Amino acid sequence: MMTEVGQGAALVLTEQRGAVAVLRLNRPPVNALAPALVQALMDALQQAQARGDVAAMVLAAEGRCFSVGADIHAFGDAGPDPHVLPCALTSSSKPIVAALHGEVLGGGLELALACQARVASADVRLGLPEITLGLIPGAGGTQRLPRLIGPEAALALMLSGQPINSADALAVGLVDAVVEEGLLDCACALALRLARNESRRTVRAPWPVMPSVKPVTRRLPEPAASAIRACVQAASDQTMDDGLALESRWFAQCLASPNSVALRHAFAAERRARQVPGVPAGSKARDVHHAAVIGAGTMGHGIAICLAEAGIQVDLIDPDPAALQRAQRAIERHHLQTQAKGRISSEQAQRRIQLVRTGESLAAAADVDLVVEAVFENMALKCQLFQQLDGLCRTGTLLASNTSSLDIDRMAQATRRPGEVLGLHFFGPAPAMRLLEIVRGAQTSGQALVDGLALARRLGKVAVVARVGPGFIGNRMVGPYGRQAERLLLEGATPTQVDRALVNFGFPMGPHTVGDMVGLDVGVRAAAEASPSADPRDGAVARRLVAEGRLGQKSGTGLYRYESGSRQALPDPAAEALIRDEARRLGINPREIDDSEIVQRCLLALINEGAALLGEGVALRAGDIDTVWLNGYGFPRWLGGPMHHADQIGLPSVLDRLALWAQACSSDEALWRPAPLLIELAHQGSNFADLDRQTP
Ligand code: CAA
Repeated sequence: MMTEVGQGAALVLTEQRGAVAVLRLNRPPVNALAPALVQALMDALQQAQARGDVAAMVLAAEGRCFSVGADIHAFGDAGPDPHVLPCALTSSSKPIVAALHGEVLGGGLELALACQARVASADVRLGLPEITLGLIPGAGGTQRLPRLIGPEAALALMLSGQPINSADALAVGLVDAVVEEGLLDCACALALRLARNESRRTVRAPWPVMPSVKPVTRRLPEPAASAIRACVQAASDQTMDDGLALESRWFAQCLASPNSVALRHAFAAERRARQVPGVPAGSKARDVHHAAVIGAGTMGHGIAICLAEAGIQVDLIDPDPAALQRAQRAIERHHLQTQAKGRISSEQAQRRIQLVRTGESLAAAADVDLVVEAVFENMALKCQLFQQLDGLCRTGTLLASNTSSLDIDRMAQATRRPGEVLGLHFFGPAPAMRLLEIVRGAQTSGQALVDGLALARRLGKVAVVARVGPGFIGNRMVGPYGRQAERLLLEGATPTQVDRALVNFGFPMGPHTVGDMVGLDVGVRAAAEASPSADPRDGAVARRLVAEGRLGQKSGTGLYRYESGSRQALPDPAAEALIRDEARRLGINPREIDDSEIVQRCLLALINEGAALLGEGVALRAGDIDTVWLNGYGFPRWLGGPMHHADQIGLPSVLDRLALWAQACSSDEALWRPAPLLIELAHQGSNFADLDRQTP
């Protein structure tokens, strides 16, 4: 017999199996532990406790997983203390066995830890990812886990934030049994044995050590890590009650920390970015079995790798046989390296290699579900290609451009099916970068967007939808950011100083290291293709270095120099002399520049441009801009993205600082003019987060 507990939809289902009450969490999609679910489980537990015909209980879950932990969207909502439910489980007079499947994360794992035993299905993934949100396990995990599996292994799980599989969980003693099938039967049988005192956990010593987990804290300023260490120490030398009290204090402190607020914002923004007006949730995407990628350069073969990794058959097309050969070799190298790292089997590597077929003729695109063009950034070439594709491809083929800045609408107009045309802007290296900018043309259909979003998910990418506009979201903001980085060189900073200041701020790489990596000539060519700037300072450094044959890493010198075969950027007095010479030619006197000026100018430029494009509707939400910069450009995640960071600075302060720079650099007054949206929000006493809350 099945009974239901909880208001409205049944949040907990209770089923009696002989003398065992099976309580099932039932809050799709992931059984996130919102206060209402916690309360419903408390009620169900009490009812089962009170029944004379219940000797033991099993805690299980409906749906794809056991539970992913606390409801991240409901932090701050009033609810019971996080320790109440786990303590009720632990102190139950009747034994409770957790039956675990799918993801068992955070507070979900902490519930399982509070049960007397744990049985897992083979597909289970168990972990404590709180640190990735700037938090610590706050539902008793810091105390129960070290007591169960030892401090070393517990620390490894908590500091890495990474989940482990069923085999590792069994090896460290996190679960008592793993079953291929019959999870509930096994859990019920164990619960009955425990009720009859026929089975008891064996505690082992010495504790096992968790293999190969890297703390996420290596790069992050992460107070949660020290809090975790302190709590695990308390688990060794304090009572359970004192340990739990310490955990509560640290949890509250971490929850209120700016780091955690920013990390939770990042999590929510990435998921919200998938919601696009005009695209109803649950719309069905067209199947993509077979794709064509046109252009076998670095981006083209990178995209082909991504598609093959998702099991999609690819025709990689390029009129240049040498380019195809290079691409084929690069594709093979990529998959074999992935295999060598132990991430895939040799069969999988071979299968992925075989999924990509190379050829010179466009005819191979005639019958595919998706075309992604990745040819040179030249509008005439792209328009001609789209016209050919329109004549060639069957109805229903999605036509995408990987352009990083050009007008998708002009490409769409070259076809008779503009509704099927959209931008799929991958970031290089495509297999590694998580971001996919989906560019919505004026006539792109809702169905094409659904298809693009579904493809992103299938490829494991974070998708953000942008409207057409030069550089879309990400590259448009790179413009003013890079311009400040270059102005700083002309005014007296060295490339090393600029890069070091921004790396210390939290970027993985400074803009000048990136410039050398991409190739200075690439930027010079892109600037020439876009509308030229009237200011002779814009692009002056890059043009001069390129004229001197300094293209960046690929030529061994650029803004830095490189030892043969090395990618390490070394300071180069010759480059610095050329920069000073260029500054002299432009009549700029060098001066001392401190790191805070570098960070402030680059960030203000970024924020102001973000506000401008948000006001123009190129991005739908400030959170979408943050998602782009977190996943495509290495903006430090613990600061939440440029727009979240602006909210933390306070928009009136942002305006004040823009005014200060406009005054200090009068020749750049126009660059520091605040975006209208920034002024409007600041004057209303509002901010980007408020604006996003009002956006559908
Ligand atoms: N709270 C609320 N919603 C959550 C959630 C959570 N903890 N985890 C996932 N979701 C939601 C997502 O928002 C998404 O909803 P929409 O479809 O409406 O956007 C849905 O579940 C599916 O999630 P994903 O799209 O992320 O699916 P995925 O398959 O790519 O990834 C996942 C699944 C690995 C579980 C991933 O969602 C994830 O990492 N979730 C966060 C898990 C986590 O950090 N848990 C710890 C919470 S803190 C805690 O638990 C502290 C405590 O006890 C006191």
